[in-house]
Amino acid sequence: RIADLVQEGIPLERWPGEFFRVENNIRRRGLLLGNPATDGAAVRRLLDAGAEAALAEVERSGLRGRGGAGFTTALKWRFCREAPGTDRYVVCNADEGEPGTFKDRVLLTDYTDLVIEGMTVCAGVIGARRGFLYLRGEYRYLLPHLESVLQRRRAEGLLGTRILGADGFDFDIEIHLGAGAYICGEESALIESLEGKRGVTRKRPPFPVTSGFDDQPTVVNNVETFLAAARVVQWGGYWLRGEGTDQSAGSKILSVSGDCARPGIYEYPFGTPVHQVLSDCGAENTQAVQISGAAGATLSPADFDRIIAFEDLPTAGSFMIFDHSRDLLDMVRNFAAFFAHESCGFCTPCRVGGALLRNLVEKVAAGQGSEYDLSEMRRIGTVMRRASYCGLGHTAPNHVVNTLDKFPLIYGRRLARASHTPSFDLDAALS
Ligand code: NAI
Repeated sequence: RIADLVQEGIPLERWPGEFFRVENNIRRRGLLLGNPATDGAAVRRLLDAGAEAALAEVERSGLRGRGGAGFTTALKWRFCREAPGTDRYVVCNADEGEPGTFKDRVLLTDYTDLVIEGMTVCAGVIGARRGFLYLRGEYRYLLPHLESVLQRRRAEGLLGTRILGADGFDFDIEIHLGAGAYICGEESALIESLEGKRGVTRKRPPFPVTSGFDDQPTVVNNVETFLAAARVVQWGGYWLRGEGTDQSAGSKILSVSGDCARPGIYEYPFGTPVHQVLSDCGAENTQAVQISGAAGATLSPADFDRIIAFEDLPTAGSFMIFDHSRDLLDMVRNFAAFFAHESCGFCTPCRVGGALLRNLVEKVAAGQGSEYDLSEMRRIGTVMRRASYCGLGHTAPNHVVNTLDKFPLIYGRRLARASHTPSFDLDAALS
């Protein structure tokens, strides 16, 4: 066991697993990528040690949710395990819809067994008999592959009734295909969708751990979280603790795309600075990095020494690179249109705010904007962040507000060319 390797002082280089850069075949030491093999070892370990001991390993590991928010996984599992309910459910959030994010697609393709293994271990810990893999609609082509892995695991006794012969350990997984709505990546909208309803977020609390699918205790985790959890139970909590920072144990898998020589899937220990990723993937002359997708943060070169970690730059995994040949306003236009389209329409700040932002961005891009329009964009962004009903609306104006702060010239250039730029101070007018 890895815990023994730590105690015996075996250097990290000789631990199982290795960082493996999928696109360019440069091997580095890693935790998850490069080692998809599993033979049900985590499930066996769970059965040998018992649910409480397995959960203790997850606790020891410090594993935090890889969907972006970083909630402590062991706490989520414990809350669910201890919540009153008649049934319990495990849900894998594979609705990977964030622009620029494609790592779950790779994990579901090449590391399928480990993902299923993580769900099965979670079921054993919380006492669930039923699980769902909520698959992004655009990943429909993965269905035959996923179904065949589920089928094989049933034949191997790793899913179904009496898993590996253990009395009372019954668990199976069904795949639910999304229909293309970004909002269904939010866990409570995902649960609504699983229940056959329209994908609208629920008010939280109560969180799914106490009131999820069918109002029963439910764990919803990201694909990568289940993958890491399987290894934690198999190899012990110290294994994950050996990498990363105090607050962010382990590694993060990134989807690296945009202006670089080697786009692809990369795995890094938490604590890695942005400039390291840029240099490894062959990015040059970088103007900006959009981290954690359209809803995330826009980084300028002044941020490139910052680290990927929950305490500095949390990310769901997307890392989009823009060099100086790009007009960042094109990115803003694209994201503004995306959010206007993807608002579920339930609350006014997001529905109307998203459309207004898109219109104002288009107006500025067309050279017809004014300083007043820019101040309106900030004002609408603030309203959306404060008053929207859910996370989609809270984060939808990020790209506009971030670029107004960090790249004011992409707007200013347009205003200078505009034929009519009224100078109007809204705050003065209102006061
Ligand atoms: P959140 O912080 O509200 O919750 C995170 C997780 O912890 C959820 O599963 C929630 O149920 C659980 N949780 C939080 N407080 C809890 C409590 N007191 N008791 C029990 N469980 C609790 O974050 P949310 O709204 O679920 O997700 C927002 C995050 O998602 C953002 O940080 C963003 O980075 C990320 N995101 C990820 C995307 C992706 O494609 N993976 C897309 C867009 C945003």
